Amino acid sequence: MQGSENSRDKVVLAYSGGLDTSVAIRWLQENHGLDVVAVSIDVGQPPGDDDAIERAKQIGAVNAYSIDARDEFVEDYIFPALKANALYQGTYPLSTAIARPLIAKLLVDVAKEEGAKYIAHGCTAKGNDQVRFDVGIVSLDPSLGIIAPMREWKMTRDDEIEYAKDREIPIIVKKESPFSTDENLWGRSCECGVLEDPWTEPPEEAFEWTSSVTESPDEPRYVELEFVAGVPVSLDGDLMKGAELIAALNRIAGEHGVGRIDHVEDRLVGLKSREIYECPAAVCLIKAHQNLESLVLPRDLLAFKQPVEQRYSEVAYDGLWFGPLRECLEAFIEQSQEHVSGVVRLKLHKGGATVVGRRSDHSIYDEGLATYAGGDDFDHDSAKGFIYCWGLPNKTVAKKHRKG
Ligand code: ARG
Repeated sequence: MQGSENSRDKVVLAYSGGLDTSVAIRWLQENHGLDVVAVSIDVGQPPGDDDAIERAKQIGAVNAYSIDARDEFVEDYIFPALKANALYQGTYPLSTAIARPLIAKLLVDVAKEEGAKYIAHGCTAKGNDQVRFDVGIVSLDPSLGIIAPMREWKMTRDDEIEYAKDREIPIIVKKESPFSTDENLWGRSCECGVLEDPWTEPPEEAFEWTSSVTESPDEPRYVELEFVAGVPVSLDGDLMKGAELIAALNRIAGEHGVGRIDHVEDRLVGLKSREIYECPAAVCLIKAHQNLESLVLPRDLLAFKQPVEQRYSEVAYDGLWFGPLRECLEAFIEQSQEHVSGVVRLKLHKGGATVVGRRSDHSIYDEGLATYAGGDDFDHDSAKGFIYCWGLPNKTVAKKHRKG
């Protein structure tokens, strides 16, 4: 792995500008003898400081990139997940999980461009994210080596600060958060600290995107979401790009306390963990999308799609995004969306998002058939014959076996 000063191999590091990945730049040079290319990727997390890229170079990175991946995240990861109504264990909209394969892909792209032999990321040894990065990377380029400094170096936060001081590495040490968090357009994850006791109610300080029920407005807010082929295209009649629509809905629904999720989930690495999520836009959009589907898709397709959605969610959670199963499931889901176009009306109020209306040119809801008013189109005379046939198997069994 080690080379001479002017022919060193390169490593592409997923760099956030924070303490861990700043220290990692120097650590990779010192401990693996590699030249470091730092890559910072925007998937809609709050913007870091403007100097992060400059600082990476000061610390010693031979090159540093800043990539705005928001649109790609929305088009190729969020929208497919939305079409799948993807909720891991029926609960978690997979916000962190689906950003990881995209980050892995972009790191692999940079590695190709830079001729790098290694990729490094800042994941620890107990989470799902290390699996998603490592498996994502090898799925795209099996020749790349992977280094996870934080899995190897066993430094505490104080050790890292000490390490940085000793080497005059410029770092911005923020106040230590009582939680471990991750954010992107599709949601915010929050774990650790007092949340580790599943009996403890999450304190208000665990939430950043959503108001509490007490603080949220007394008046409900109605929003209309329009979908075309399973994809949201407008909010309250305003056509918007995906990233813009999701960001706006996060703000609006978050203000009404929508999108708080408290989940004891099963991690891929075998343990249970308690996680708090804030996913206002994801919760609204998945609910609206599901409701639109119930208006435009027939019963057998809806029923078959459900286990497909569940499997899709597991595959995404488990870090197998760049595998054939996800691609095949996604092909089925994509095909199912042809008629999923229309408008859904949601009422946001005191933490709840309730669908109160839906309409579509593709609706297969037939009022003429459904109405209980007189003069409907339903053939009442056919009911008796249908029920005779439908119940015949049970009737036959009962005649044979039921005594008395
Ligand atoms: N448990 C979630 C997942 O595996 C989120 C993990 C995000 N990390 C965090 N520090 N909260 O996708």
